[in-house]
Amino acid sequence: MTFSNAELFPITAGVTAGGHLSIGGIDAVELASEFGTPLYVYDEATLRGMCREFVGEFTSRYPKTTVAYASKAFINPALAALAEEEGLGLDVVSGGELAVARAGGFPMERVYFHGNNKTSDELRMALEAGIGRIVVDGLHELDLLNRLAGSLGLRQKIMLRLSPGVDPHTHAKTTTGILDSKFGISIDTGDAERAVREALVSENLDLVGLHCHLGSPIFELEPYSIAIDAMLTFAAGLAPAGLELREFSPGGGFAIGYVTSQLPPPIAAYAEVITSALKARSGDLGLGEPRLVVEPGRAVVGRAGVALYTVGAIKDIPTVRKYVSLDGGMGDNIRPAMYEAVYEAVAANRMREPAVETVTLVGKFCESGDYLVRDIALPVLEQGDVVAVPSSGAYAPSMASNYNLNPRPPIVMVGNGSARLIRRRETHEDMMRADVWQREAGKDPAGD
Ligand code: LLP
Repeated sequence: MTFSNAELFPITAGVTAGGHLSIGGIDAVELASEFGTPLYVYDEATLRGMCREFVGEFTSRYPKTTVAYASKAFINPALAALAEEEGLGLDVVSGGELAVARAGGFPMERVYFHGNNKTSDELRMALEAGIGRIVVDGLHELDLLNRLAGSLGLRQKIMLRLSPGVDPHTHAKTTTGILDSKFGISIDTGDAERAVREALVSENLDLVGLHCHLGSPIFELEPYSIAIDAMLTFAAGLAPAGLELREFSPGGGFAIGYVTSQLPPPIAAYAEVITSALKARSGDLGLGEPRLVVEPGRAVVGRAGVALYTVGAIKDIPTVRKYVSLDGGMGDNIRPAMYEAVYEAVAANRMREPAVETVTLVGKFCESGDYLVRDIALPVLEQGDVVAVPSSGAYAPSMASNYNLNPRPPIVMVGNGSARLIRRRETHEDMMRADVWQREAGKDPAGD
């Protein structure tokens, strides 16, 4: 049985005979009682389906494509293993993400290291790990990396991240490819040309191509073709200087549906625009057929993840607002507070009941800005009900914090009718683990 906003939920979502939400064939209310709430549930079929859709839609149009999953959207060893099994590459932006990829046995030659201010320690770690590509974000990094690679006796493959000056019309806090951005080497200022020339004479670096990333989420298609045009025109201008465009990446940014009133274009539409712009422009400009690298993050994991919460306090302010407090909030999903992100929600144990009242779902954190969904129509909620927020798989657990010292939620993966824990709930001891105790040895409550 289906339900009205099912297209925001994992592809396996349904409603049980008893009127409960189910994910991957499992009753979400049972998951909540077995693992406790807040709880993040990822649906394996949706995850694998998205990986295959990206690979299929791009390689069927442009066989020389690598799909590198942007792990900042959410990574842990189970996700790294899944991405590896699906044949994806991996985009990492810190030593921490790289460490997870390594611990999960991810093949290092398929890893791309991004970031506007990678530290020397992180760069050394990446070089020593035998990472596939380092995506250099500035002239400073170019010099640092050339020296580090030299000191290790290595020649490292790099890409240059350029800023093409294209606005993708998304939230200001997630716009990256415009002139006024900390990311990328600007084409407009002449820095990009300087960086290419510098890279070409850097003995320990092998410049394989160019990269840009416009922002996220991008609901429009046109910014991709404008950016590809700008990037390839730039590359063609530097071919006489020796730039050989073996690889090209327009980054990620593919949108997902958070609310049914704003659904994204299908992956096929992004693939069509990107591959046709690339084919047409590289053909016209005589650039050959560079390898295309796309870096979806949100679109791989976003729809697969559902957050489950339990209703606690309810505060009704007549004629003003009814606040329904959940047991999670900005600590596990900061996106509403940070980007005014909008979500929908359902009452997982009342899926067959009509939405008869408008409430605001808030969290348990000590901030008035701690809300999850404003003014949403739901069945009348009571303490103990389970609320499910779809489209929660991307940038919610990965941006989670221990604010107010609330433990971060556990994560389960559902698939083939069973649920397996891929991250346990944090304990109070976990949160004290890194604290240094000025006490007698052996009396450390965190047990270290
Ligand atoms: N490649 C690069 C170089 C990136 O910086 C990003 C995202 C991606 C790929 C993946 O973009 P995606 O396909 O996931 O849209 N925390 C924000 C999103 C920040 C995105 C940062 N970079 C949010 O919750 O909306």
